[in-house]
Amino acid sequence: MVLHTTINGQAVVADVDPSISLAMFLREKLFLTGTKIGCGKGECGACTVIMDGKAVTSCIIPVMRADGANIITIEGVAKTPTQLHPIQEEFIQQGAIQCGFCTPGMIMSAKALLDKNNDPTVAEVREALGGNLCRCTGYVNIEKAVFAAAERMRKGE
Ligand code: FES
Ligand code: FES
Repeated sequence: MVLHTTINGQAVVADVDPSISLAMFLREKLFLTGTKIGCGKGECGACTVIMDGKAVTSCIIPVMRADGANIITIEGVAKTPTQLHPIQEEFIQQGAIQCGFCTPGMIMSAKALLDKNNDPTVAEVREALGGNLCRCTGYVNIEKAVFAAAERMRKGE
């Protein structure tokens, strides 16, 4: 089937096998391998992307659900090729990354939240990141990074 979608601001038209997931399409066809596949069952959040403004687990989204959609992946988050987004910078600054496998999904979930609400409560941050599992960091520094990024985004960064 022919898929028409927008990924990181670029129109994409592709002939796709409709049985594959959006995550597989991103990784295998477009080589956007920043989107990770962990569980493949919608349970770990490693594959999170933003689709039409909402964080979704792309491993359980059939690729044709992306038809007509606007998708942002981790590759589309940086402000410019040489300037990271404040969320990315704060994950680095606050030590919120260890092995890094969960990080793209965490950042996409955080971005989906902060794009709509840049002054979230602890409960709102925990709710937004609740579907993203991290085996390494213990989550404390991840929360710190989200709040530090929120503060910067409130200042217009
Ligand atoms: S890989 Fe998609 S939720 Fe785990
Ligand atoms: S940094 Fe290793 S899983 Fe989160």
